[in-house]
Amino acid sequence: MVIQIPRGTQDILPGQSEKWQYVEQVARDLCRLYQYEEIRTPMFESTDLFVRGVGDTTDIVQKEMYTFPDKSDRSLTLRPEGTSPVVRSYIGNKMHGHVNQPVKLFYLAPVFRYERPGAGRYRQHHQFGAEVLGSEDPAVDAEMISLAVHFFETLGLKNLRVAVNSLGDTESRMQYRQNLVAHFESRIGEFCSDCQRRLEQNPLRILDCKVDQKHELIATAPSILDHLNEYSADYFAKVQQYLQAMGVEVVIDATLVRGLDYYNHTVFEVMFDSQGFGANATLSGGGRYNGLVEQLGGPPVSAVGFGLGLERLLLALEAEGIQLPIEKTLDCYLVSFGEQAKDETVKLLHQLRKAGFSCERDYLDKKPKAQLKAADRLGAKYVIMIGDDEITAGTVSVKNMQTTEQETVLVKDLVEFLKKGA
Ligand code: HAM
Repeated sequence: MVIQIPRGTQDILPGQSEKWQYVEQVARDLCRLYQYEEIRTPMFESTDLFVRGVGDTTDIVQKEMYTFPDKSDRSLTLRPEGTSPVVRSYIGNKMHGHVNQPVKLFYLAPVFRYERPGAGRYRQHHQFGAEVLGSEDPAVDAEMISLAVHFFETLGLKNLRVAVNSLGDTESRMQYRQNLVAHFESRIGEFCSDCQRRLEQNPLRILDCKVDQKHELIATAPSILDHLNEYSADYFAKVQQYLQAMGVEVVIDATLVRGLDYYNHTVFEVMFDSQGFGANATLSGGGRYNGLVEQLGGPPVSAVGFGLGLERLLLALEAEGIQLPIEKTLDCYLVSFGEQAKDETVKLLHQLRKAGFSCERDYLDKKPKAQLKAADRLGAKYVIMIGDDEITAGTVSVKNMQTTEQETVLVKDLVEFLKKGA
């Protein structure tokens, strides 16, 4: 029986993998401009990290984690998001003591969630994420949002909508929470079972419930933005002022709350607003998480970040018909005429590759005509032909496929000859 790929996962095959490399390179280049350094954390962590970090009332922790005991009966979990592992590493490696502050990190990493697979929703997806730890400057919040937008724009993506909200600090949210519970309490029976549970555990999440989105009480619910205390309101105003200064267009969405527990102050999502793209149009999400480092046993350090789904990004690029400028190049194809020449290509191929030329040859015992066809199909710049006469003379025949000019070149001069032509 043929073994199937696990549900909700996909192979990234040649033809696609070049696109992945391209977008990953754009991410790396941008991070260099913004001075973020790469961090790589393990694919699995102690389950506790996510229960405490992401929050035990979230969908991720309650329903979506790949959790398993190892052979010593430790409970481990495949990373369902990138922020908590970064915070764990930040604390463990005492990065708060580094000379350069704040600490600015990025990652490109697979993430695992046991979700119902669908368009743009996978059980293994990949995130480009960025985190800044050690600053409570609203300019960092604005920089985060602008970095995500800059990334999408560099790739040519249009039709983006950036939604921003503030969840305020703990004081603001306590007050808001009470008012929200009072608003929904008497009629919570009209809501889905998830929302009924959320009323006690996390009433803010009722606001972004997919099932009850159209319920009249959602539209009439009090707004967090009317509950921000002075510090939180000033903070949010500054974030908006900086975004405006950078020309990053955003819409304020008071119902944006996000699905992870650790957020406060600024939260944001970048949506791809294109017709027919479907429900999973959120390309990126993030926000500030000032309490998380302390909650996970570190010092009271403020932090902010985002995660950005690469599968969704590639789907959006495809929907927009954006061709990434990916060049596939082949410098030389070696064509051999006869047995002795075939042996000779082994050596020559190796020498040319060591000299930095991308080279290919035939390994299927094809006739010279079929070899030439292959060279053409692969788009070789030069075809290098070797036969018995050439071997005797210590030469090769080099055909420039663009000009169709053909020349006899001494083997010892071949690298120089190709370098001049390149
Ligand atoms: P998140 O919103 O759960 O946030 O995920 C970030 C992004 O990952 C989403 O906007 C989406 O593009 C992509 N994504 C999420 N789930 C899936 C899935 N099942 N299939 C495909 N793509 C998916 C976080 O993970 C936070 N750690 C972000 C963050 C970083 N906040 C602060 N720092």
